[in-house]
Amino acid sequence: MTDFKTLVQTRRSVRKYTDQPIDADDLKTILRAALMSPTGKSVRGWHFIVVTDKEVLEKMSLCRPMGSQFLAEANVAIVVLGDHELTDVWTEDASIAAVTMQYQAADLGIGSCWCQIRNRYMNESESADNILRFLLHYPQNLVAECVIGLGYPAQERKPQNEDSLKWENVHVGKY
Ligand SMILES: Cc1cc2nc3c(=O)[nH]c(=O)nc-3n(C[C@H](O)[C@H](O)[C@H](O)COP(=O)(O)O)c2cc1C
Repeated sequence: MTDFKTLVQTRRSVRKYTDQPIDADDLKTILRAALMSPTGKSVRGWHFIVVTDKEVLEKMSLCRPMGSQFLAEANVAIVVLGDHELTDVWTEDASIAAVTMQYQAADLGIGSCWCQIRNRYMNESESADNILRFLLHYPQNLVAECVIGLGYPAQERKPQNEDSLKWENVHVGKY
């Protein structure tokens, strides 16, 4: 395991993946991380849909005019859903679960990228969420926050540059 300080610096969004299937134990470890992530009032109202079918991944990649295309190349995509009837912090809960999976994936040498679904549209009349709902059959109480695409990296990403961190955005004591 990478130490956490290094992990936060080396995790970068990866949108190009090799064909190598993700190890089943590693996938389970990634989902375990999501299920251990913190939630408001500990409601754990999120749901996760694991998609490996290439045809479905390709259809999912077309849910937005841009920003989602990389999903067609992913080995696995995990749709992160929140229950808006159960909790008013479903977006926060879903987001924390999603990013926790991204760090766990990075620690296992697996690349990942977030594809935003909530508040994104294919066109004026169709939301990205509705397109996924039609494909994956989730109920009305659940809304997709994002999809996390996963795969072994087929691109190299540089670690975050220590010198370009926005320390000026950190305000001590008052703004
Ligand atoms: C809330 C959120 C939404 C994002 N949406 C998308 C997206 O729809 N498509 C995409 O390719 N990347 C998306 N990203 C990835 C960002 O573009 C990426 O994290 C950012 O450019 C910083 O790069 P890094 O992750 O390599 O550090 C999203 C990231 C976040 C946190």
